[in-house]
Amino acid sequence: MTANSQDSEPRRKNTTIQSLLQMKSRGEKIAMLTAYDATTASIMDESGIHSILVGDSLGMVVLGYETTLQVTMEDMLHHCKAVARGSNYALLIGDLPFLSYQVSVHEAVHNSGRLLQEGGMHAVKLEGGRERAETIRAITSAGIPVMGHLGLTPQSVNLFGGFGPQAMTAKAARRLIEDAIILQQSGCFGIVLESISARLAVLVSQKLEIPTIGIGAGAGCDGQVLVTPDMLGMFTRFTPKFVKKFSNLNAAMQSAFIQYREEVQSGDFPAAENEVEMPDSEWEETLK
Ligand code: KIV
Repeated sequence: MTANSQDSEPRRKNTTIQSLLQMKSRGEKIAMLTAYDATTASIMDESGIHSILVGDSLGMVVLGYETTLQVTMEDMLHHCKAVARGSNYALLIGDLPFLSYQVSVHEAVHNSGRLLQEGGMHAVKLEGGRERAETIRAITSAGIPVMGHLGLTPQSVNLFGGFGPQAMTAKAARRLIEDAIILQQSGCFGIVLESISARLAVLVSQKLEIPTIGIGAGAGCDGQVLVTPDMLGMFTRFTPKFVKKFSNLNAAMQSAFIQYREEVQSGDFPAAENEVEMPDSEWEETLK
């Protein structure tokens, strides 16, 4: 039964960019998660998650790459389409993958449009600060909402030399605040703040009219996002300090897989109740 299946319950409204802005002004926190497939997106929808990000983290947690750099537009479109088929209510945001928006403004607008037109997304997300201002203005001029992403921006992992926290000096923190203001002025409707000091995130959130969505940026952001296989305890190759495991699906899946293997080998599965049977008359006819 879904959250909206009873007549007595008020029908849930779709989350829009406007609703996220209103949530910030009312001081209501925004809950965002990543998803990469229709089934997970539909469970999130039924759970009242406000926004689903089809993150390029899919390169690491679904496709098995070491970083997000290998993810292509075709990978993103494939997973965006699946998520769009599974979700009716959440605001859907698709990540622009590495090299899809950095080379030229023209390509950035074209690839953003593809995430909406072919992928069924409502908005796109891209990484970077002031150097993206012109690109963000061009994408939003085409009617495509853009979410920014500051702090630890995983597509620049080779510049950072790893996935560690960012903006830890006063100079870098001041630059991040300026970048956030420039992103807002360029037309972003929200900004992901990843792996920065919690008090810096509070300051940025206070300075902006648009919502900040934190991941490893403390409780002072206007909303939170986590990579779903991390928060479900499925992806165990490494777990950043800021991840809370809301479940231990890795252990639950392993125990189900082990039990399945054992029951297949012992012959306990499939049991009679798992079989389908043809009518006796047709069986007799078959044997004749
Ligand atoms: O790709 C992703 O999942 C992201 C989140 C970490 C915000 O960008």
